[in-house]
Amino acid sequence: MKIIVTGGAGFIGGNFVYYELKNHPEDEIICLDNLTYAGNLETLEDAMKNPKFKFVKADIADREAVFKLFEEEKPDIVVNFAAESHVDRSIENPEIFLQTNIMGTQVLMDACRKYGITRYHQVSTDEVYGDLPLDRPDLFFTETTPIHTSSPYSASKASADLLVLAYHRTFKLPVTITRCSNNYGPYHFPEKLIPLMISRALADEPLPVYGKGENVRDWLYVEDHCAAIDLVMRKGKVGEVYNVGGHNEKSNLDVVKIILKQLGKPESLITYVTDRPGHDMRYAIDPTKIHEELGWLPQTKFEDGIKQTIDWYLTHKEWWQNILSGDYQNYFEKMYGERLD
Ligand code: NAD
Ligand code: DAU
Repeated sequence: MKIIVTGGAGFIGGNFVYYELKNHPEDEIICLDNLTYAGNLETLEDAMKNPKFKFVKADIADREAVFKLFEEEKPDIVVNFAAESHVDRSIENPEIFLQTNIMGTQVLMDACRKYGITRYHQVSTDEVYGDLPLDRPDLFFTETTPIHTSSPYSASKASADLLVLAYHRTFKLPVTITRCSNNYGPYHFPEKLIPLMISRALADEPLPVYGKGENVRDWLYVEDHCAAIDLVMRKGKVGEVYNVGGHNEKSNLDVVKIILKQLGKPESLITYVTDRPGHDMRYAIDPTKIHEELGWLPQTKFEDGIKQTIDWYLTHKEWWQNILSGDYQNYFEKMYGERLD
């Protein structure tokens, strides 16, 4: 089988490339990524040594480049991770989110229609459901929860999902969608909560917690997400959506305190800063469907996953320090400069 993995130089896509090379060594993997600020070829250094792996630098919204690749490679499966993925950036500059997340998805699906594939899989997010109140712990997102987005990021992901389902209904494209909760693990770009807090705590720098730190996220170890995507793209029912999450809800403050404790750093580093506009309160996934239909269950407990993640950041300092010394620094100043003064 030949599989195109878009966005494979990013966090989840990179982990997915390694998951596939390890668990399906018979398959060929082609990573299509245009290396935005979030794409890092260092992540794929080991994969590059594998003859079953190939990297192609191109924008998923570049119709000519995408069609040329499909013409040459004739993939069986396309799995689309490529996206602008950071909510705060979407609040600063929504346009690129629409371009990549919506138009890019359309170009990929048009190529799938023209050249024929057995499966197009869209990697989506629980953020398409909006948020849940903190005082209703009995409520969870199911696949039939109405789409109700909050940020330009989540609106762009929801738009793409609707387009994917429309291509299935109208053109009979064999699609599946997974909507996952927050991931954590190796190769996570240090603008997102967990790697940001690890890298800053290690440098004894203030840890910017939005609002009161009460917002709740449902954390899943990245390898468990990769296993779910692999299962759905190979065995999931065409035209279906599958929610992915492990019933592991934690407030942001609790996550930050766990990281500090693990690193032996003081809680006095916690600094409360102005809240994210439109900040979603709580995400919580009901994963019953993927469990009952495909037998998926998360394998990594948060206590173990967070230790493994912290260990990874401690033993791969070069990976994230290279990022911090580049453009990311200017970005950090722009987003937090005034808030931390
Ligand atoms: P990321 O930001 O770490 O990586 C995105 C990758 O896509 C990068 O390698 C980047 O270079 C590439 N890319 C961006 N625009 C592109 C374009 N126009 N053409 C080609 N490549 C492009 O993102 P991530 O956190 O790994 O998320 C991957 C996917 O999973 C996204 O679709 C995101 O919406 C979804 N998702 C993420 C999470 C999470 O917790 N991170 C949870 C659920 C779903
Ligand atoms: O739920 C899935 C989504 O999870 C994915 O679709 C997104 O691509 C991914 O980025 C993530 O979105 P979040 O907005 O939940 O993740 P982030 O790491 O940006 O923030 C997690 C929580 O921590 C959120 O409540 C905001 C808060 N936060 C974040 C940062 C960066 C802070 O308090 N301080 C910070 O500096």
